[in-house]
Amino acid sequence: MKGYHDIVGDGGSRVLEQVVEQRARITDGLAGVRHLVAVGSGKGGVGKSTLTLHLAGALRARGLRVAILDADFNGPSQARMAGVQGAMFVPPPSPEGLGVSGGSDGVALPRTSNGIAVFSMGSVIPESQALDFESAAHGESHTWRATREFALLGEILGAFEWGTLDLLLFDLPPGAERTVQYADFLGPRTSFVLVTIPSEVARGVVARSVAALSKGPNRLLGYVENMSGYYCRDCNAVKPLFDSGREASPRAPEASGLEIPCLGTVPFDPELAQHCDRGIPLAAVPETVVGRALDDVAQQLMNRLDKEPSR
Ligand SMILES: Nc1ncnc2c1ncn2[C@@H]1O[C@H](COP(=O)(O)OP(=O)(O)O)[C@@H](O)[C@H]1O
Ligand SMILES: [Mg+2]
Repeated sequence: MKGYHDIVGDGGSRVLEQVVEQRARITDGLAGVRHLVAVGSGKGGVGKSTLTLHLAGALRARGLRVAILDADFNGPSQARMAGVQGAMFVPPPSPEGLGVSGGSDGVALPRTSNGIAVFSMGSVIPESQALDFESAAHGESHTWRATREFALLGEILGAFEWGTLDLLLFDLPPGAERTVQYADFLGPRTSFVLVTIPSEVARGVVARSVAALSKGPNRLLGYVENMSGYYCRDCNAVKPLFDSGREASPRAPEASGLEIPCLGTVPFDPELAQHCDRGIPLAAVPETVVGRALDDVAQQLMNRLDKEPSR
């Protein structure tokens, strides 16, 4: 076996050239995308995927062109939630003017019924199958996992022509340190929205993500408090989740302990959960309480993005 010192230069692999070529392909492919926004948290199960999809829906209802890249490769919820499971190889014809077409290899992305292009690993591999990275050193694939994950993200970003889009949303996996790794990989063009829930445990993890991201160049647009109260459809009102006496109303950012703006609150809505499971994105109806909450967050997001132009 060749040792490290026996390899001359890059060992003939053209690694450096390949990385430079891929970076150039990604930069070119994303040139027509106005805003890159990553939806993260650090914490799992707080509603990152749900909010990514439904914020995309609210933005789409405002006439914006939106696509989603589900970067949670081993928990790719977007495929089911957006109703594009197994759809990768039979994509519907791409309507004109909605951005995102197949790359030079002709692979096109599936779309939701409301015209949002979605890449999700769940469209490629079945739900019961874990994504595994092959490794020459048997049983040690975990060692290279992060490296392989980012190589895969680079491949996906470079493989599609994202076209003219207002927003490309990244649905991130959990993990505070992973969130920072994504920020490093995606670069300073990508702004962040962090999702939390009304629990000190979740807020503590999100605070760590805020602290870590604040050291880097990425803009932190703000946080969304999801599951902020329970939406009772019978009484058409938002009730507190816990009988703590706390109002189910937007908390002031300083009260949350997160030193970034609050973009809004979204209540827990059982119908929203059912729609996610069935792959039917809830229609972005501003007339409903939850639809209005999502639309308000979309408005705040656009205000913040337009106020601070992309780097
Ligand atoms: N506001 C909400 N109302 C109802 N159900 C929700 C809401 N937010 C998230 N959920 C549900 O909670 C579960 C976890 O949400 P998910 O978006 O997968 O979290 P994450 O991506 O942060 O891991 C899903 O089943 C989802 O449908
Ligand atoms: Mg998720």
